[in-house]
Amino acid sequence: MPAVTSTRTQVAIVGGGPAGLMLSHLLHRAGIDSVVVDHRTVEEIRTTHRAGILERDSVRLLAETGVYESGHERVITDGDRHGGIYLRFGGESHHVDFEHLVGASVWLYPQTDVFVDLHAARTRDGGDVRYGISGVAVHDLDTDLPRVTYADEDGQAQEVTADLVVGADGSRSTCRDLVEGRQRYSRTYPFAWFGILCEAPRSSDELIYARSERGFALISQRTDSVQRMYFQCDPAEDAGAWSDDRIWSELQARLAGPDGFQLNEGPVIERTVLPFRSFVQTPMRSGRLLLAGDAAHTVPPTGAKGLNLALADTRVLAEVVERALGKGDLDVLDDYTDRALARVWKAQHFSYWMTTMLHQVPGQQEHRDFDELRQLGELTSLVSSEAGATYLAEGYTGWPTA
Ligand code: DHB
Repeated sequence: MPAVTSTRTQVAIVGGGPAGLMLSHLLHRAGIDSVVVDHRTVEEIRTTHRAGILERDSVRLLAETGVYESGHERVITDGDRHGGIYLRFGGESHHVDFEHLVGASVWLYPQTDVFVDLHAARTRDGGDVRYGISGVAVHDLDTDLPRVTYADEDGQAQEVTADLVVGADGSRSTCRDLVEGRQRYSRTYPFAWFGILCEAPRSSDELIYARSERGFALISQRTDSVQRMYFQCDPAEDAGAWSDDRIWSELQARLAGPDGFQLNEGPVIERTVLPFRSFVQTPMRSGRLLLAGDAAHTVPPTGAKGLNLALADTRVLAEVVERALGKGDLDVLDDYTDRALARVWKAQHFSYWMTTMLHQVPGQQEHRDFDELRQLGELTSLVSSEAGATYLAEGYTGWPTA
């Protein structure tokens, strides 16, 4: 048996997606060393399509802390600023103007690009990021020097010892099972999203969130020639069973209306069914273990809060870790759960609310009829009231950081 190769660092981060990398980046800027480990390869993460909307403060965080790939802040130069969204129901689109309502906008900039930029920033700064490894396990959390062990790409046993361990290991986190006294809150939904990437020109200047009798649809974008779209489907749907024609006739039916809206079609280049779940685990800290991002909370995708919440966690976490290690006083870490969860529960409500306002719940016809008319009442009152639309604008563009 080859000997274990050991590395000593200040913070061992399990998970090298946006949450783990952003935390590592912020810690580096504060002069704190970290090692990031992830069982996925860089290529796997880079090619897994996720959401595409960044809140105002997420863009600021990336731009102001120097996250860029090749000499310029791509989020600003390549991202698209969106000053609002369209809510579409009854076959008509209603613009919700964030700039007018709350003086803020969001940026369409895919999570895959955020990952590329963060990975480039960490690599450029000499960060220790280790991908494609296996068998990650966390040990000795009841001591002053916890350990993360794994086998590297060549099967060599490795160990990282650290003052603190952060679980940024996503919605299938194993780190979260190590939190003592944990409580979990969750909700499931009787539907999922069918997500596609297609080669087609844009159909709209901004995103369209559409409610129809056939269910929800979202028209998002990627570039001038590639678009991202989603439609509500059964969670057991088999993405492979859908031809391009079937996908387009379903999307067209959900977007059709007397205003003559045109949805541009083209070849479908990717199709996946995305799960839907609301989940929170508290506390987000137990001794020397801390959780960040999806490991501690998952939101349904409506409103694109997941990545934004993960980035918001890392900002608070980097700050408390810097204070705790600087002072040698771990009690400072106690603040983390309450500060992070205040935002998490707002986002949980926001994502749940946008979801239930726009999706059809399969079930008894008498409830469907009532719910349909109630949803139309809700949407009508929202688009015809500054107060209603302002709640949407504030939540979508993101609450101020605590
Ligand atoms: C996208 C995803 C979302 O969940 C959303 O609310 C808006 C945009 C996207 O992938 O572009």
